[in-house]
Formats: sequence, C-alpha cells, structure tokens
Amino acid sequence: MKKKDLLGLRDIEKREIEIILNLGEKFLEILKRPIPKVPSLKGKTVCNLFFEPSTRTRLSFELAAKRLSADVINFSASTSALLKGETTLDTLKNILAMKVDCFIIRHSSSGAPHFLARHTEASVINAGDGIYEHPTQGLLDIFTMRKHLGDLENKKVLIIGDILHSRVARSNIFGLLKFGAEVYLAGPKPLVPDEFEEIGAKTVNNIDEILKEVDVVMGLRVQKERGGASYLPSFEDYRRYYGITAERLKLIKEDAIIMHPGPVNWGVELDYEVLKDKRCVIHEQVTNGVAIRMGVLFYLLGSGEIKEG
Ligand code: CP
Repeated sequence: MKKKDLLGLRDIEKREIEIILNLGEKFLEILKRPIPKVPSLKGKTVCNLFFEPSTRTRLSFELAAKRLSADVINFSASTSALLKGETTLDTLKNILAMKVDCFIIRHSSSGAPHFLARHTEASVINAGDGIYEHPTQGLLDIFTMRKHLGDLENKKVLIIGDILHSRVARSNIFGLLKFGAEVYLAGPKPLVPDEFEEIGAKTVNNIDEILKEVDVVMGLRVQKERGGASYLPSFEDYRRYYGITAERLKLIKEDAIIMHPGPVNWGVELDYEVLKDKRCVIHEQVTNGVAIRMGVLFYLLGSGEIKEG
C-alpha cells in the first residue's frame, strides 16, 4: 500500500529507502538539465511548516517542490500569528483548513510530525523533530555515501559529536544499519548514549585509533540551543579530542569522504581547512538534498511515473 507519511528511518523498510534513493538519482539527472523542472506534482500544494530555524532543509524542500511544479506555501513560526498569542493547535487547524496535500514540518518537540500525521489526511514529512529524527537528512547522507562508496555493506562510518541531541545521527544510524554498514560513534561520554550499541552501532573512545580505517567521517554540530555545549568542558577541548583538525586530515584515508549536515561551528567540529580538502562533500550533500527531497515528495504524492512535460 502507498505510504502517506515519512516520519523517520527507524520504521521504514530498506526496500522503500531504495525506491527513494533511485528516485533521487533520476531527479539529480533532471536537475542538471537546462530547464530543471518536471510537471509531476502539478496541482499539488505543499506547506513548509517550520517552527524552528532552518536554511538547508526549508529551502531545499521549497526548491524540490517547485522543481516538481507543486504550489508551495511557507509558514515560519517567527513571522506568524503565534507571536500574537495563537496556539500551535489553532495554527495547525487553520492551515489544515487551507486543504494542502503535504506538510513538511520541523518542530522542537520530538513526535510533533507523528501527532500532525494522526490528525490529517495530508502527507506529513518530518523535517526534524526535537532530538528524534531528521529522515530526509539521513536519506541524502546515505545517497551521498552510496555515490562515492557504492554498496554500503561493511563500509565503516564514523559519526562524531553530540549523538545524544542529534536527530541527524539517529536517522543515519537507523538507515545505515539497514544497509549493513558498520556504524561507529564517538563523542564526549555524556553525549554518546549506550542505546545504539543495542541495535548494532559501536562506541569508540579515541577517534585517532579508527580514523585511518573508516570510509566516512561525519562531524555533527554541537547543539548549543539543546544544551549540548553544557556537557563540554570547553570548545577548545572538544576540538582537541573530537574535531576534524588540519592535523587529523592526514590520518583519514585518501578515498574516504568527510561529511557534516550543517550548519558547521568552524574551529570546533571541523577546521576550516576541511572545506578545501577534496574528500569533503559538505556542499555535495546540499545539492543531493534537493534531488532526494524531490524523490520523497514524488514517492508520497506522485502518480508512480515521472511526467516529463
Ligand atoms: N542540516 C540541516 O538540517 O540544516 P538546516 O537546519 O539549515 O535545515
């Protein structure tokens, strides 16, 4: 049966992820054309519902929907009637009354997209909920890894940083384990919960011992707004033990890739030299994000066949 929502990568089958990744490949080709647009979602209306700040996710979802010829409306909490005292529930009821086909929601509360999905017949896509999941980031990361490394079975992926507060880490861990990748987690002890060892990830204490073996090095943002910084002695110490520094670049394999979901705290998670390194794919992740989000929108709202015009 056709899926209504994309709420996370924990509860989605590998087969469905593969369908979206394959759609992403097709849309990446379309995005390289002189006119990078297809009429596949003409007549559909998509609502970006952002209760938290975003640059990459919001803009790339908007672009993805427009590249598919959908109509897009944007809600941003910081410019909405929430500031006049309207409740979140009233806000949602009013937007539901506008009869949109798909909500793309980012919210600081884990589970907010699941709540919305239960109260609307429209599709709901999780664009990041609290510290739980960010499935389209996980999908675009897996897509980027597969483009560089091929089959991810037994590939070694090291995720470094604030795993506890990272919805990006969660979605990557859930997705990567489905593809048979070996997932290693490193970071300050209070920021690396044990729960992921139970599902197959491994915790690493000293990143210098494993950097030379891994195929992917993924830095994560220190999430000051979720209290992540309060678990750290100092940013200097974080950089010393967990930062991808210019020195550590020398330890990483020639054919490995270096990733970060953004936004980066330069000089903390990554030294600025990383951006100039040929193994760094941070901007490619952003490009791939548009294609993957087109894939997700088409998977949920499309007719099954990409219309060419
Ligand atoms: N990676 C990511 O979610 O970035 P934004 O917060 O800019 O959307």
